[in-house]
Amino acid sequence: MKRDKSNIPEAFVHQVIERVKAEGSIPEEDLTVENIRGVLEHLKIMDVVQGKAGLLGSNAKDMGEHKFWETQPVPQPGEGPPLDDGYIEPSKPREEIRQEPYPLPKEFEWSVLDIGDPQQCKEVYDLLSANYVEDDQASFRFKYSAEFLKWALMPPGYHKEWHIGVRVVSSKKLVAFISGVPMTLHVRKNIITVTEINYLCVHKRLRSKRLAPVLIKEVTRQTHLKGIFQAIYTAGVIIPTPVSTCRYFHRSINVPKLLEVGFCFVPRNMTQARMIRLNAVPDTPTIPGVREMEVNDVLQTASLFTRYMRRFGLAPIFDVEEIKHYFLSGKGEGNIGDGGPGRRKGQVTWSFVVEDPETHQITDFFSFYSLPSTVIGNQKHPILEAAYLFYYATTVAFEPNAEEDGRLKARVKALITDAFAIAGAAKFDVFNALTLMDNANILQDLKFGPGDGFLNFYLYNWRTAPLAGMGPEGDVPAGKGVGIVML
Ligand SMILES: CC(C)(COP(=O)(O)OP(=O)(O)OC[C@H]1O[C@@H](n2cnc3c(N)ncnc32)[C@H](O)[C@@H]1OP(=O)(O)O)[C@@H](O)C(=O)NCCC(=O)NCCS
Repeated sequence: MKRDKSNIPEAFVHQVIERVKAEGSIPEEDLTVENIRGVLEHLKIMDVVQGKAGLLGSNAKDMGEHKFWETQPVPQPGEGPPLDDGYIEPSKPREEIRQEPYPLPKEFEWSVLDIGDPQQCKEVYDLLSANYVEDDQASFRFKYSAEFLKWALMPPGYHKEWHIGVRVVSSKKLVAFISGVPMTLHVRKNIITVTEINYLCVHKRLRSKRLAPVLIKEVTRQTHLKGIFQAIYTAGVIIPTPVSTCRYFHRSINVPKLLEVGFCFVPRNMTQARMIRLNAVPDTPTIPGVREMEVNDVLQTASLFTRYMRRFGLAPIFDVEEIKHYFLSGKGEGNIGDGGPGRRKGQVTWSFVVEDPETHQITDFFSFYSLPSTVIGNQKHPILEAAYLFYYATTVAFEPNAEEDGRLKARVKALITDAFAIAGAAKFDVFNALTLMDNANILQDLKFGPGDGFLNFYLYNWRTAPLAGMGPEGDVPAGKGVGIVML
C-alpha cells in the first residue's frame, strides 16, 4: 500500500522499527518502513476517529465531512467512548416507519432479488465479480462464487426483502446491490438482534453519485419493517465510527504463483527456494481424531462454539440451525475431488472437528472458506485461490490457566496447521486471517505476514467502547475484543 502523503517522520518510523526489533515480536522481514508506517498511519487515524487525538488540533473536524453519515444514528467523530452501552435512537413502532421505498433517480428502479433463483444469483455474482472490492493498487478483486453468495445470503431466517438490487429501468441490468441477513450478537453484556449488512456495491460507471446512501437507507428501512433497529457491518474505509479495526494477515502456500502474480515479493536476505521451503505445509492433518464435520456433530459443535465465543466482547450467537448452515451447508456436491483436488463441486466451506478417540467427545473444531480473487489483467493466473480462516473453538480454552501457560496458543496453532494441510491439498494459494479471536497470538509463529488491508468494524444504532482488534484496548489483548468473522 503506497502512502506517499504520510506525515509520520521517517526518523520516528525507524525508531519504532528498532524498538520492535529489540522486542523480537515481529519477524525482521516484516519490519519495513512501509509496513510500520502503514500501521502507525492506521492507528493515528483510529485515534482521531475515536476522538482520542486530533490531526489539526480540533477533533471533530478532522475526519472531514460526512454528509450522509452525520445524519445517521452512529457515534460521531470526537464523541469519545460512551458511559454506557445502548442504542442511539429508540426503536419505532411499525406504523411510524416509512412505508414507501426511497426515491431513486428516474432511470433506476428497486428490485428484490431472489438469491435462490440461479439466474438472479448469477446477476449478483456478475455485478460483484466486475465491481466489488479491490486492493489499493487495483491488482486483485474479490470474486465471490455464486455458491458462496447463496450460502452467505440465505442463512436460517433470511428475508428476501433484504437482498436489494437497483436496475436500469430500460435494460433491467442490475447495477447496484446491498444485502442484510439476520444475526444475534453479543456486544459485551448485551444480546441484540441485528442485520449483518454486506455486499454493498455500485457499478463502476455509477460511482460518486450518492447512490450508496440511498441503498443504505433502503436496507435500513427494510430491516425496520421487520422490527430490527441495529446492524453490524465492516468496511476497508474509515467512516464514523469504527468500534474496532483488524488487519489482514496472509500465509503463503503456493509461493511461486504468489510471486508471479505480485501478491508477495522475495524479501532481502531470502531466496525463492528458501521461501518455498519455509512455507511448505504438511500433506495431511495430524491431530489424532481430526475429521470432517458431519450432521451428527452439530449439537456438540454448537455448545462448544457458544462457550468459546463468550470469551470475546463482540461475537455472534448461533443456534443449532445456524451452526448447521454455516458449517455444513457450504460443503459442496458429490465427492471430494469432483471440484478439483481436495474439493467437492461448488465447495465453499471446509469444517473439521476433533473427536477424542477415547471419549468420542468433540473437543475442537475449525473451519475456513474459499474466497478467490480475480488477478486483474493476468492472463496466466486469472484467479488467486484464497482460503480464509473462519470460526474455530477448542475445549483447551476452558482448562484452568490454559491461556497463561500457552496451552491455548499451542492448540490453536495445531488446529490451524491442520487447516493448512487441508487447504494445501485443495490447492489454495494463500491462507488469510484477520487479527481477531485468538489469531493475533499465533500469526507470527505460523508464518503469516501482515497485509496491506485493514478491516473496520461498525455497529449501527449501538454504542459501545472500542474493542481490541489489531491493537489492545485497556486490559484486553489484541484481537480478543472481536469474535465475529464477516463474510
Ligand atoms: C462502496 C461503494 C458502493 C460506494 O459508492 P460510491 O459511488 O463510491 O459513493 P456514493 O457517492 O454513492 O456515496 C458516498 C457516501 O457513501 C459512504 N460510503 C462509501 N463507502 C462506504 C462503505 N463501504 N460503507 C458505508 N458507507 C460508505 C461515503 O462515506 C459517503 O458518505 P459520507 O459523505 O457521509 O462520507 C462503491 O464505491 C463500490 O461499489 N465500491 C466497491 C465495492 C465496495 O468497496 N463495497 C463496500 C464494501 S464494505
